[in-house]
Amino acid sequence: MPAPTAPTRRAIARLLAAGAGLTALAACTPDGGNRPPSSASPSVTSASASQAAPPSSAGPETSAAATEPGTVAAPAPTAAPTPTSPAAGLAQQHSLTDPASPWLVVNKHRPLSPADYVPADLVQPNIALAVSGESAQLNSTTAAAAEQMFAAAAGDGVTMTLASGYRSYGTQVATYNSYVASRGQAEADTASARPGFSEHQTGWAFDIGDGGGACGFQPCFAEQPAAVWAKANAHRFGFVVRYPWMFHQITGYYYESWHLRYIGVEAAMDMAAKGIVTLEEYFGLEAAPGYL
Ligand code: DAL
Ligand code: ZN
Repeated sequence: MPAPTAPTRRAIARLLAAGAGLTALAACTPDGGNRPPSSASPSVTSASASQAAPPSSAGPETSAAATEPGTVAAPAPTAAPTPTSPAAGLAQQHSLTDPASPWLVVNKHRPLSPADYVPADLVQPNIALAVSGESAQLNSTTAAAAEQMFAAAAGDGVTMTLASGYRSYGTQVATYNSYVASRGQAEADTASARPGFSEHQTGWAFDIGDGGGACGFQPCFAEQPAAVWAKANAHRFGFVVRYPWMFHQITGYYYESWHLRYIGVEAAMDMAAKGIVTLEEYFGLEAAPGYL
């Protein structure tokens, strides 16, 4: 089923009523928005992600979400853009399911496979870092593109930092559980991906900061120079703002002006030229507002 081109009027009304933009959470930080993971076992009520180890037999049907009693196993994710999708016209096509592909689409309907995937080519980019360790790493393609983008931003007088990059399955367990513990699962799911469902685990995505200020990972970051610059220019370096404003009903997450995802220059430029802002629409995939 093709994704709608925009959120329905009813969805927008519901979103506004819920004050969605004001309740966006800082879910992208490795430690759950600077809140340390609860030392006690968090009370995750469903689709438990509290175990540190990924499902032993990786794959959608064995993921934490899919093993919840009463839930329907996710169908096999579409492996290529649908023939009628905007992306189908590009000369070079890529897999939508291979985690090593720049066109991988991971969302609430499309878990990583294997769930404990680790990129083979993690490197630390030569850019301003606000974090260290695994969070300062990206896959090699994304790192090279980030170096170019950060240099261009600096050339325009804009300070940009890497605020959160690669996140292992185990780190995502801690991040997600921290959100569930502090906000409850329903709210956590609007901002933090469950383990095995995060773009951060692929090395293709990272969060930007601006080296200071109080808006890091907050809704007001959208008005800061780093986010304004990224929104206007990131596509020239192969990036998209993955969770745009008011597309929660398609992407499954509220606006994250700081979360950039590499898909390649050709595709990112094409999306910008066509005015398409979600990967689901660009690749002809169904909307993924919630877990299956
Ligand atoms: N904040 C994004 C959705 C993540 O947790 O990957
Ligand atoms: Zn992020």
